[in-house]
Amino acid sequence: TLLHEELAGDEIIVVSNREPYMHARTGKGIEVQRPASGLVTAVEPVMRACSGTWVAHGSGSADRDTVDRNDRVPVPPTNPSYTLRRVWLTKEEEQGYYYGFANEGLWPLCHIAHVRPVFRSSDWEQYVEVNQRFADAVIKEARTDDPVVLVQDYHFALLPRMVREVLPKATIITFWHIPWPNPESFGICPWREELLEGLLGSTILGFHTPFHCKNFLETVDRYLETRIEHEASTISYGGKLTQVESYPISIAWPESSPERPSVADCRAQIRQELGLSADHLLGIGVDRLDYTKGIVERFQAVERMLEMYPALVGRFTMVQIAAPTRSSLDEYQNFEARVRSLVQRINNRFGNGSYQPVILKAEHHSSEQVDRYYRAADVCLVTSLHDGMNLVAKEFIASRDDERGVLILSQFTGAARELHEALIINPYHIEQGAESLYRALTMPEIEQRERMRSMRSLVRDFNIYRWAGRMLLDAARLRQRERISSKIR
Ligand code: G6P
Repeated sequence: TLLHEELAGDEIIVVSNREPYMHARTGKGIEVQRPASGLVTAVEPVMRACSGTWVAHGSGSADRDTVDRNDRVPVPPTNPSYTLRRVWLTKEEEQGYYYGFANEGLWPLCHIAHVRPVFRSSDWEQYVEVNQRFADAVIKEARTDDPVVLVQDYHFALLPRMVREVLPKATIITFWHIPWPNPESFGICPWREELLEGLLGSTILGFHTPFHCKNFLETVDRYLETRIEHEASTISYGGKLTQVESYPISIAWPESSPERPSVADCRAQIRQELGLSADHLLGIGVDRLDYTKGIVERFQAVERMLEMYPALVGRFTMVQIAAPTRSSLDEYQNFEARVRSLVQRINNRFGNGSYQPVILKAEHHSSEQVDRYYRAADVCLVTSLHDGMNLVAKEFIASRDDERGVLILSQFTGAARELHEALIINPYHIEQGAESLYRALTMPEIEQRERMRSMRSLVRDFNIYRWAGRMLLDAARLRQRERISSKIR
């Protein structure tokens, strides 16, 4: 494949917090689960294509029962093609590093969703500690002195530098899956310099959009003494050069499979399961139950639409699939309570015994189940208040081989920079959301087709292999340059 050419036999190691496969003990024995994570959706097919080792937190209840002496397990379980190396964390480590610093600190810091970040010294200490433990695992897994290490996301801002110190010849590609905020916003973090220095251990630092790259360069400019070449988008710090580039992430284009139910079957079956008539209008939302996703604003837009267009009362239903996430944190519990009470209020107001305008399915769904909903829907709503890319938008498009269905997309997602034929909205503007929803539900078939066709060809071409391929190609060029200059030296 293309990826093999770009890797040219180099050793590849991925490191992320979330693992691609979790083994869970259930009533029926050990079951394999795929976590709801945009990162996993995107990176997993890349790993399948180029093998190597993926280092991640072992978090499933039966994870320890499936690994060998070295904490390794071959995956995918049904057709192994690479190695998953699990790292175990104590309760305290998980609390401080993952729940605390990563998800109460960095997550709200980088997503401007008006949730205040919390910074505790004790969380920071665990974050440093756990970054070191993962760095040690990467170093231990490395068989050569110059592996290609793909570092994923905000859980590991310090790890690039830690790996660089031991493996100076490694090519470290760090990808930040969430937005990077402006310098003022980032600057409230008490450990801003340490985080920036850690990230500058990377050879390449990737973001989804040029805007996030610009924010990063400005942040570094503000808080560190470095040399920045704005034209070339490089930062030189402590004698080391980091290339800052945008690589919009994507998905693997689905292969056609005889087992996949047709759009007509999905439409009919889902409506039947929900007790709706065959021509009932259906909206779908698929998110982790996270306060950045704009779920409250989305439901408010539904409510407003029903208010403005009473003819749609009884004819339209919004189905929200919401995978539970980080639910031990207060912010997430409060958010879930808010969402539930809003759903109840809207259903009381516009529903009756048999009709509920909003159906909330707050549980984990497999990708096959989600695909059926995508295919059954008339409109998909992606209303994030802020989002690095948002792969639900791309998954919905990829699922619609009938070239029907409308995508409503928040202007604050990375995806809105690419998917111009979606109905782009400001999720904070409830009236606009309501009007767009109405427009989507009444959009002529021919217009749906034109928009869908154009977005489908974009997502098909700019798929996840392109994302990885571009990063690996850039890395290969830098490696080549490094080899030549070290010979000259
Ligand atoms: C976002 C983050 C990922 C994370 C995912 C799921 O997409 O960028 O790093 O894996 O959310 O969140 P979780 O905390 O369950 O891994």
